[in-house]
Amino acid sequence: MELKFLHGADYNPDQWLDRPDILQRDIELMKEAHMNCVSVGIFSWAKLEPQEGVYDFDWLEKVIKSLYENGISTVLATPSGAKPVWMSEKYEEIRRMSSSMVRDQTGGRHNHCYTSPYYREKVRQINEKLAQRFGSHPGVILWHLSNEYGGTCWCPLCQKAFQGWLQKKYGTLEELNHQWWTAFWSHTYTSWDQIHAPMANGERSTHGLTLDWKRFTTEQVRDFIREEIKAVRTYAPHLPVTANFMYYFTEYNYFKLKDDLDLISWDSYPQWKKGDNTEEACSTALWHDVMRSLKHQPFLLMESTPSCTNWTPVSRLKRPGMHLASSMQAVAHGADSVQYFQFRKSRGSSEKFHGAVVDHYGGTDTREFQDVKNLGQFLEDIREAQGSQIKAQVAMVLDVESFWAMEDAQGPRNCGLHYFETLKDHYRAFWSRGIPVDFVDEEGDLSGYRLVVAPMLYLLRAGFEAKLQSFVEQGGVLVGTYHTGLVNENDLCYLGGWPGAGLAQLFGLWHEATDGLWDGETNTLKLAEGKAYRLSELCALIHLKGAKALGVYGEDFYEGEPALTVNQFGKGRAYYLAAKAEPAFYGDFYQKLSQELGLARALKEIPYGVEACLREGAEGSYLFLQNFSGEEKRVELPQASLELRTGVPRKEVLLAGYDAAVLRIASK
Ligand code: GLA
Ligand code: ZN
Repeated sequence: MELKFLHGADYNPDQWLDRPDILQRDIELMKEAHMNCVSVGIFSWAKLEPQEGVYDFDWLEKVIKSLYENGISTVLATPSGAKPVWMSEKYEEIRRMSSSMVRDQTGGRHNHCYTSPYYREKVRQINEKLAQRFGSHPGVILWHLSNEYGGTCWCPLCQKAFQGWLQKKYGTLEELNHQWWTAFWSHTYTSWDQIHAPMANGERSTHGLTLDWKRFTTEQVRDFIREEIKAVRTYAPHLPVTANFMYYFTEYNYFKLKDDLDLISWDSYPQWKKGDNTEEACSTALWHDVMRSLKHQPFLLMESTPSCTNWTPVSRLKRPGMHLASSMQAVAHGADSVQYFQFRKSRGSSEKFHGAVVDHYGGTDTREFQDVKNLGQFLEDIREAQGSQIKAQVAMVLDVESFWAMEDAQGPRNCGLHYFETLKDHYRAFWSRGIPVDFVDEEGDLSGYRLVVAPMLYLLRAGFEAKLQSFVEQGGVLVGTYHTGLVNENDLCYLGGWPGAGLAQLFGLWHEATDGLWDGETNTLKLAEGKAYRLSELCALIHLKGAKALGVYGEDFYEGEPALTVNQFGKGRAYYLAAKAEPAFYGDFYQKLSQELGLARALKEIPYGVEACLREGAEGSYLFLQNFSGEEKRVELPQASLELRTGVPRKEVLLAGYDAAVLRIASK
């Protein structure tokens, strides 16, 4: 099979159908920019079905054909992301209701009801027709389902479906009332139709309800996605499907959506600034790793900007070089593509000032066009690395359901628990050392990892504690923290002490209470070996029940009590960090631990601001280096390696400000 990274963009020819000269020029420009694919039809419904039941696919056929004849593949979208005005006006039920049950007016996008039978039927019809017409076209390589599935609808149809979902889940109202603890404030339900979704002006204090509503929303979207897939598969059973995901998107549990998709893809819009971008690079790396981990296989970078975004407070341009560093970062973490939003800048409406490959100006002598073109060449030069994999010995637990539950709770720190920031604090320690990390949720498989890091594991879904126990028993190392094992999967607190469900035994301790600190308040972690670190936000007061203290609190009425512990359990051990520590702690702690465990690193000596990642393929191993520091950095290599772009063997690499390099460090 021909190895090739995809390089392309969202392409919206439907906005330019009256300008055949521009459509013609687009093809030339795509070729010049070394683009080999485009995503077409994402928001084209009004052009594909201008009136109910009247379809016009001829323009799309022409576009796909002309792309194909010029060596450019089509990622074909289903158009459900934006509904045509005629449909929205005619069928009120397809418009969402807000959390105060106010119906949306016509307009916007990504705002259809996921339950509406009419919308589902219209989507089925058009998807089938698209599949019938284009499913076997040699130019079409992938389905792009809808666009950025997102949001929630509170309409009566959705609420009815929710009641049915609950009935299936709990069987009886007695069971539901018990699991949701509804005796509290007289919130006991006596019939299923009394149950409404959590709402701003309604029920907000029944945590089990809120959690189940979020779970239901994910399930409803999953069901909608399945129907979209079923429709496109009617005529195109072999064409793979993807849906573009987003980062910091916690409205749905992406781990529940992954199995229905053949490929994971996502849209990444980091906000790069002038100077040192190491922290932004770390956050972005984390999300690339999350996306790769969903299916443990290469993913697609479906959207990114060639220059700036326009939905942020300011539209900062990428500094020279950053296009290369940021695009290669995605590839370094497992992307097999670099794609943009969008190819040609719209002339009107709300995205007319968003970065694009081709500006309103129209020429190729713009910085963004040249950046894209150079990147396209770069991807061709390194094509042998396409399809290679990342092998991680470290897994971090990121569980969205647990996050939902801890955010909904009142206490112990309503002014901010900072779950994702905390994940990043742990992650940074590995990332800056070139140690690859996978992310798993509580349904994930832990076997095969050496180290599992599970910060703030507030909610335990049934069975996860057993996985953690057997992982450690068989020799694995676990790092847990404060705010772990407080509630079960229905958000009911464990009786008999924290951390619940047997984790107390695993960590060898009992967590009696949590002290929530005000912003600005601190405590200290004093390690037995002498070092001290600042603690903040949450401090768990714990008692040893077999674990050994490695460090104690330095202040307050719990001064001298354990703050960092380790417990031998079977052939492995479990660490427990009782409070949120300053970043330096994680650096030192994981430096030592990774040495003890002999964790593989992409590179031993990595200068600050440089990111080093390893992808392993059938033919060789590839070292990816990206410099986010904004300053020139020299990277020494342990052995002479071949720089793929230049074909020159190197013992060291000199990286300019936001430069990137790819080296074959070993052939197989
Ligand atoms: C999202 C959407 C695109 C576009 C970009 C702009 O990712 O999927 O259609 O609006 O944002 O950044
Ligand atoms: Zn609805």
